[in-house]
Amino acid sequence: MESPKRYTVTAALPYTNGPIHIGHLAGVYVPSDIYVRFLRGQGRDVVFVGGSDEHGVPITLKAKKEGVQPQDVVDKYHNMIKKSFKEFGISFDNYSRTTKKLHHKTAQDFFKSLYDNGKFVEEVTQQFYDEEAQQFLADRFVVGTCPKCGFEESYGDQCEKCGTSHNATDLINPRSAITGAKPSLKETRHWFLPLDQYQGWLQEWILEGHKKDWKPNVYGQVKSWVDEGLRPRAVTRDLDWGVPVPVEGADGKVLYVWFDAPIGYISSTKEWAERVGKDWELYWKDKETKLVHFIGKDNIVFHCIIFPAMLKAEGSYILPDNVPANEFLNLEGNKLSTSKNWAVWLHEYLEAFPDKQDVLRYVLTANAPETKDNDFTWKDYQARNNNELVAIFGNFINRVVVLTNKYYEGVVPKPEAYFEVDQKILAELRAYPAVIANSIERYRFREAQSEMMNVARMGNKYLADEEPWKLIKTDEERVKTIMFVALQIASALSVLCEPFLPFTARKLRTMLDVEDPEAGGTISSSGLAWGTSEESAWERLTADKPMLAPGHVIGKATLLFSKVEDQQIQEQLDKLEATKAANQAENKAVSPQKETINFEDFTKLDMRIGTIVEAEKMPKANKLLVLKVDTGIDVRTIVSGIAQHFQPKDIIGKKVTVLVNLAPRKLRGVQSEGMILMTENASGKIVFLNPDEDGVKPGATVS
Ligand code: 2FM
Ligand code: ZN
Repeated sequence: MESPKRYTVTAALPYTNGPIHIGHLAGVYVPSDIYVRFLRGQGRDVVFVGGSDEHGVPITLKAKKEGVQPQDVVDKYHNMIKKSFKEFGISFDNYSRTTKKLHHKTAQDFFKSLYDNGKFVEEVTQQFYDEEAQQFLADRFVVGTCPKCGFEESYGDQCEKCGTSHNATDLINPRSAITGAKPSLKETRHWFLPLDQYQGWLQEWILEGHKKDWKPNVYGQVKSWVDEGLRPRAVTRDLDWGVPVPVEGADGKVLYVWFDAPIGYISSTKEWAERVGKDWELYWKDKETKLVHFIGKDNIVFHCIIFPAMLKAEGSYILPDNVPANEFLNLEGNKLSTSKNWAVWLHEYLEAFPDKQDVLRYVLTANAPETKDNDFTWKDYQARNNNELVAIFGNFINRVVVLTNKYYEGVVPKPEAYFEVDQKILAELRAYPAVIANSIERYRFREAQSEMMNVARMGNKYLADEEPWKLIKTDEERVKTIMFVALQIASALSVLCEPFLPFTARKLRTMLDVEDPEAGGTISSSGLAWGTSEESAWERLTADKPMLAPGHVIGKATLLFSKVEDQQIQEQLDKLEATKAANQAENKAVSPQKETINFEDFTKLDMRIGTIVEAEKMPKANKLLVLKVDTGIDVRTIVSGIAQHFQPKDIIGKKVTVLVNLAPRKLRGVQSEGMILMTENASGKIVFLNPDEDGVKPGATVS
């Protein structure tokens, strides 16, 4: 296959409603960074774009919760996220944000182009409306039961449990995320992308065209959506936070966040191109450009169906060549969760392990959820650091650099006669780049990293077998060859490890003193040594000349990796235990179980279904309603303390559960003959007993 002329690589734009954690890094940012660092090392023309996704309901919800403006929320987290990416070496060529003017204009122009060319269907539909909050409830403003899997906390636009994307009106028992109230339906006009019209094209393009080269998890998801039949999808919303819809008669409407966010990749590319003096269009419209989107599995439908349909509808854009989505990473056996604080936050990780960015990158790649969900454990983190990075990679480099300094004052020796073993090692070393490249090109980063470590293993074994420290007393000439070969392995590692361990690669290049172009290495704009305009770093690996020529003087040994102690791991585990305890304490807010009763006690309770036939406020009491309830036995008066939760007119005709043999008692002079059973919903509102409705949680008391 001929190499593409250039690459446009995107990494999902994170929502700026919280900091980022190891799940983000493992699923999207480390793999995409490995890929682009590799491409740059190969001297390819590549742009790597990202940015913050600053629109969408989660951000407005967070702002409401904190009593601040959405802009305050996005400013805070954009800066925090951007900093984390930098600290972990995620080498974006441009990291933008969707609140920028350039993005608003790019997204609006895109919308306008589809609008002008009649690519949308305009329709007045019924949308959920919260009377109390006086606003339409778009996407995550509605929660309810997923029609597909029954998950009770599904969002209006997508179920986080089964990944299905749906319309809010498909939810069973919908409720407002703002007030907890049952929403009403109200008419509103919106623009829809008629995905049904793209069904045949998607079938051909993905299901027939990418069966072999897309990951089975991605292909499988797309296939099931297409097989189920696609429906038109609204691309506008009634919200006050987002990119305003740029057509007349659309006041108070913004673009759906999933319409504007992927266009963020384009705006970020434009911003970069403007800065470096390139033509952005080549990176998005030229057929010889390879477009690759790195995302997590919950984003598959948007990147494999909706965004491609948008690009296709516009007509002048290329389509993604691949969307290597990852599955999810768990932490110590449990799903990562922002709300439960079950995560390793990047900024907190760095407080505990300030110089171990590469260690985290390494462990996350070694355990990458490439084909299935995977687990991060602190014990595994420690083992991989101590047994692999320290014991294999670090140990090999340390031996080579220390011995070269000790025997030759740092000067690379001239090899004498090669033995068969040396030739074998040098041949193997030359074969590795192709093996690693092949894995990376197929998005198999775990495999690629493990092959890179095999190079270090090979070096370690070579030294252990040849024992230059013993031979130095008897055969100085032989040692020169051994050290020369070992130095070639070390220098090859400084190139091969760069995609995975960029900070280590840099330290290693400093140790080998190849950061200086004069010494045979160059620091390109991407920070890569070795590569020159005539010969890329990776080409140099297989070229017919040594990476480190005899006579070159290397630097002194410094430690590449250091051990992680049990105590440090215990601290992390204790922290997670504390989180667990805090979560349990929160759940325990349910009242403790009462004393055990026997069956006879239970049979004494006479509970009936009744219908409320009359309801009115108790005069001069703000909590009490006087109800007339048809119990089937009689119609009786019951005084209930629910006036703050219900309007009398709303409950007439409601079926309720009544404890009918409770001893009558007088409340404010009115004889009450029984009790209506009530419970509490998720937002603390008192509701009639109906465990299936209104987000009633396990443990809610019936009283
Ligand atoms: O899932 C998310 O975090 C989204 N903000 C990803 C958006 S990716 C893209 F389309 F911008
Ligand atoms: Zn579901």
